[in-house]
Amino acid sequence: MQLLTTRLLLREFKEEDWHFTHLYEANEEVMRYQTSQVRSSKESLEYIKSCIAEAREEPRSLYDLAIVLQSTQMLIGRVGMKVDHDAEEAVLWYILNQTYWNKGYTTEAAAALMKFGFEELYLHRIWADCDPRNVASYRVMEKLGMRREAHFRENIFIKGEWCDSYVYALLDHEWQQRPNS
Ligand SMILES: CC(C)(COP(=O)(O)OP(=O)(O)OC[C@H]1O[C@@H](n2cnc3c(N)ncnc32)[C@H](O)[C@@H]1OP(=O)(O)O)[C@@H](O)C(=O)NCCC(=O)NCCS
Repeated sequence: MQLLTTRLLLREFKEEDWHFTHLYEANEEVMRYQTSQVRSSKESLEYIKSCIAEAREEPRSLYDLAIVLQSTQMLIGRVGMKVDHDAEEAVLWYILNQTYWNKGYTTEAAAALMKFGFEELYLHRIWADCDPRNVASYRVMEKLGMRREAHFRENIFIKGEWCDSYVYALLDHEWQQRPNS
């Protein structure tokens, strides 16, 4: 599967992509609010292999796609969604190479995956969460039109400390009625 946006191509991973995903998966600042630790080369490769294997499952529930710049063909990050078919909902996530932050790429990529989720998979709800200190992450959620539904206090233990979480979500009818649709 692949999705095209104005500036980006979202495509399935290939094993050799780990060289580029590792550029950000091994970066302390990029991984600061991730539940996983910075990855070794081996772990970056294993992650890509697991994405490829899960993408082949039937029915498919994992859509973890490479974000590629159309202009240079550079792989700059990934955007993903795990679908719960019984609940008709999916959780969304994203991560980008720091060199490309604050150019609107993640919002552009995530909007395309949400469109796919609502319009091709007929999901009822797409949600995402992040640490409240991760302003860039919840700004993306807000730019996608998601609503903040919860602020959980110290509900997750990450990297030696109890952390809060914001939960954001968007429903199918809210997606259809968004201002720029
Ligand atoms: C979260 C992340 C994917 C955002 O990617 P991005 O491509 O830079 O996102 P966008 O450019 O689409 O939007 C970022 C928004 O956050 C804003 N922002 C970034 N840092 C900010 C800060 N410290 N304070 C306030 N706003 C901030 C930007 O100005 C922009 O908003 P705007 O368009 O209203 O100006 C990227 O920062 C990243 O990879 N972080 C590390 C991984 C991560 O935390 N992933 C999410 C886990 S929940």
